[in-house]
Amino acid sequence: MKKITNCLINKDTSCFPVWFMRQAGRYLPEFRKIRSQNPDFIKLCLNSDLSSEITLQPINRFNLDAAIIFSDILMVPYGLGQEVKFIKGKGPKLSEFNLKNFLNNNRNDFTKKLNPVYEAIKKTRKKLSKEKSLISFTGAPWTLIIYMMGLRQDKKNINLNNIKNKNFEKDLILDKLNEYLCIHIENQLEAGADTVQIFDSWAGLIPKEELSSYCYKPNSKIVEFCKKIGLPVICFPKGIGRNYKEFLDSVKPDGLNIDYDVDPLWARDNLDNVCLQGGMDPKILFEDEEKIFLEVDKYLNTFKNSPYIFNLGHGLLPETNPDVLDKVIKRVNSFK
Ligand code: CP3
Repeated sequence: MKKITNCLINKDTSCFPVWFMRQAGRYLPEFRKIRSQNPDFIKLCLNSDLSSEITLQPINRFNLDAAIIFSDILMVPYGLGQEVKFIKGKGPKLSEFNLKNFLNNNRNDFTKKLNPVYEAIKKTRKKLSKEKSLISFTGAPWTLIIYMMGLRQDKKNINLNNIKNKNFEKDLILDKLNEYLCIHIENQLEAGADTVQIFDSWAGLIPKEELSSYCYKPNSKIVEFCKKIGLPVICFPKGIGRNYKEFLDSVKPDGLNIDYDVDPLWARDNLDNVCLQGGMDPKILFEDEEKIFLEVDKYLNTFKNSPYIFNLGHGLLPETNPDVLDKVIKRVNSFK
């Protein structure tokens, strides 16, 4: 059985599997080379040969236990008919959300539009050795709605009133989006993915009293669906602090990625019956070796008797030195 599956499903504690969010990305010179020749990011994600090649770049360099398919959470809004552009230095920008067009989507057209993503998974699975996992992913509804409806004002603020006043629309959009996310997950499973991670990157912006309706419930529906189709699922409700406990109790995923604001000791003692993943601040990788290893060892020692997948508290940053990452991976691999 794959190490990651064994950890997620059987809660195995005999080793620490390791992979990284954004392990295929700008910190790798071989990625930057392909990227410089492909200025349209969405088109690159729709080129199954190149996206499979990019997915395997970190696997060819490092001793990792999983590949994560090179794609983006915004491929779902793209599949649902919104235009998606990445503006340098400003992040993603989507064309205006239109409820009627959104509701007019159907399963076949959506699947056809995203078919290159599924082709990339098939191609990657053929080249990836059997003991390694192939991780698929989606954004959680809340995080996607922020991009789809343009609710972000700046890094820390969103305009919640824009959606709060539209109670009927809000539930309709959340439910419909959930339906398509489940279709996307099932398509990825059929193509050969063996694990899925749900990114709720902006969960930390939800007021406490709204967490249940915008975060726990939509994530629960997806987790229930994954359990029904037999696909191990990892959730990442970034930035919700001590509400991680409530999240776990109501959503019950197989795996839970903690972010860098969560104290690992608190997590170990309060988040039970789940395989924890990640936590370390990606910025630690800019420090000197001694400091990095101290921090890596802190996570490994904390979780040495628990099911734990080594990863970070958010994605790798573009300034990360790949040689430093290699040393971290070797340290994790030699720990138990
Ligand atoms: O290696 C992997 O983790 C797999 C690929 C992956 C990408 N995006 C590729 C990518 C994954 C899992 C994602 C998820 C994603 N995308 C999230 C959730 C995780 C998180 O970071 O919170 C979010 C919020 C997005 C939306 C998105 N896509 C943003 C905000 C950006 C950054 C814009 C920028 O210029 O920094 C992207 C672009 C993106 N997605 C890049 C990569 C490698 C950088 C593209 C480039 O080369 O310019």
